[in-house]
Amino acid sequence: MNIKQAATDNPILKLLAERWSPYGFDDRPVPEADIRSLFEAARWAASSYNEQPWNYLVATKDNPQEFERLLSCLVETNQAWAKAAPVLVLGVVSLQFAKNKQDNRAAVHDLGLAAGNLLVEATVRGLSVHQMIGILPDKAREVYHIPEHYEAWTAMAIGYKADPAKLADALKERDLAPRQRRPLGKFVFAGQWGQPSLLVLKRNA
Ligand SMILES: Cc1cc2nc3c(=O)[nH]c(=O)nc-3n(C[C@H](O)[C@H](O)[C@H](O)COP(=O)(O)O)c2cc1C
Repeated sequence: MNIKQAATDNPILKLLAERWSPYGFDDRPVPEADIRSLFEAARWAASSYNEQPWNYLVATKDNPQEFERLLSCLVETNQAWAKAAPVLVLGVVSLQFAKNKQDNRAAVHDLGLAAGNLLVEATVRGLSVHQMIGILPDKAREVYHIPEHYEAWTAMAIGYKADPAKLADALKERDLAPRQRRPLGKFVFAGQWGQPSLLVLKRNA
């Protein structure tokens, strides 16, 4: 079995079990049609009041200058590996409802939901996505003139994962490490906080 495949306690969709966030990317470009479909998948995510608070800035390696501008909005540790990916995306969230300027408490949640849709679409297409919170929001505001009440929140490196055997040791180690998760009983409670729900103490056969 693939070492990165989730060792699930209960059956889940194959593509969810197979998705993981690589550090090593191949330099193969991503077809434009696939990039469009990734954003289309994000577009159809659910959102609170259908506000669709997500916005994206995208740069591909075909345009090295634009790619460098987006790369410069990541923290250095992320730049070090993300520069290998053929596509970089900055997720920018609108923190206020457009119609009444009230704070949208679901905005970041909904940016995450859109990312979830994008990840599923990417996985089906044989693409990998590595999300990043390690960005420089102030730099992004300056570089792209991001308006007030919008905040650069996360970034994504997108492409085809590299063969770990061809990676430098530090990246190889991370891309060959098994994926870890807390068991269901540690985060699905019933009755009171911290008490595992009996529902999840059983496993599906
Ligand atoms: C919102 C978000 C922010 C993340 N930020 C970073 C980051 O800045 N740098 C990084 O190397 N990985 C980052 N990751 C990747 C996580 O470390 C990774 O998803 C987690 O370890 C689980 O691994 P898996 O995606 O391979 O299952 C981020 C993931 C998410 C969802």
